[in-house]
Amino acid sequence: MKNCFFCILFPLIFSFHENDKGIDNMDQALYKNADFSVGVAIKIKRLKNDAIYKRLVLEQFNSFTAENIMKPSYLHPEKDVFYFEDADYLAEFCKKNNKRLHGHTLVWHKSLPPWIENFKGNKAAWEAMLKEHIKTIIIHYKGYINSWDVVNEAFNDDGSLRKNIWLKNIGESYIEKSFIYANEADSSAKLFYNDFNLEASRTKLNTVLQFVAELKSRGIKIDGIGMQMHVKHYYPDINAINQAAFKVQENGLLVHYSELSVSLNKKNKNLTLTNEMLTLQKKKIKEIVEGYMKLKKDAQFGITVWGLSDPAVAWQRDKNNDWPFLFDQNYNPKPAYYGFLEALTENQKN
Ligand code: G3I
Repeated sequence: MKNCFFCILFPLIFSFHENDKGIDNMDQALYKNADFSVGVAIKIKRLKNDAIYKRLVLEQFNSFTAENIMKPSYLHPEKDVFYFEDADYLAEFCKKNNKRLHGHTLVWHKSLPPWIENFKGNKAAWEAMLKEHIKTIIIHYKGYINSWDVVNEAFNDDGSLRKNIWLKNIGESYIEKSFIYANEADSSAKLFYNDFNLEASRTKLNTVLQFVAELKSRGIKIDGIGMQMHVKHYYPDINAINQAAFKVQENGLLVHYSELSVSLNKKNKNLTLTNEMLTLQKKKIKEIVEGYMKLKKDAQFGITVWGLSDPAVAWQRDKNNDWPFLFDQNYNPKPAYYGFLEALTENQKN
């Protein structure tokens, strides 16, 4: 009877640890090996309901960004109604667990509530509405959030201004007005302009940097650029990425790799994940982190990954067929995770 008991028990214990090895034996933590903030975009439902998710984001990251719940459609669903419940939960969670919470995002052309999409009024009315939106949210989170993506994705890749409702109703001054209102609401907060393809399109990067420099020359406070960094394992080339980041730094701006994801699904074809792809992803992540670490310390706002685990989420075209993150669907660390970690630890040894 005794022998039989151990025959059954030992294999069971062994197999439990094998299956869970990625999750249970993680004595490493990204942020503890970094001298800059390492962040993750948070899905609030998982944070509330999924214990492993919660444990991993707490263990691995020291900066959180809400993936969705701080966008206008969530926080400001009706003209005179603000819905703070979920974002307050996240803010309290961050405060309690000593995590930085980065605010994302106040002014964008997407995730707008219908009342803003259908807003009627002259330029002054639009400005007043924008001002109230920005100020109410920033003031609500004073003491909880010290950095904001104020304006998101205002430019096209060719350097022209994106035709959105803000441009149409206020004109291009909506961008500077947004930063002015944000600064009026909390003058100690770090204010960011956030966009994608800044590492891939020189035209877009140069235009954004010129635009920001012109605003700053008129005394408007902008502290940094969020380079979203939704890249592919083969594009853009690491030199292009590093040069773009250096250029942002040279302009006296903080550099936030604000939404890092490394897509493996080339041209959105129906691919199967292979070890070769995972290795390429690891290489890319490692190069990106190594490049980031060469920036001046005081320019490094941090690197934030746009999700904890695969598969890719709805914003990617082929939603169930990409693997852009550091952990797999069972929350096991991928080679990409070790690429990030190696960049951090190997640099410490040098
Ligand atoms: O929560 C609802 C769910 O109740 C409903 O059944 C479902 C039906 O479509 O929609 C769900 O909401 C979706 C939400 O993601 C949560 O999954 C929205 O439709 C969808 O639009 C939303 O997409 C988000 C997208 O921004 C638009 O806001 C993505 O999750 C989010 O990752 C993505 O993030 C953006 C950054 O904010 C800015 N930079 C680009 C980045 C990727 O596109």
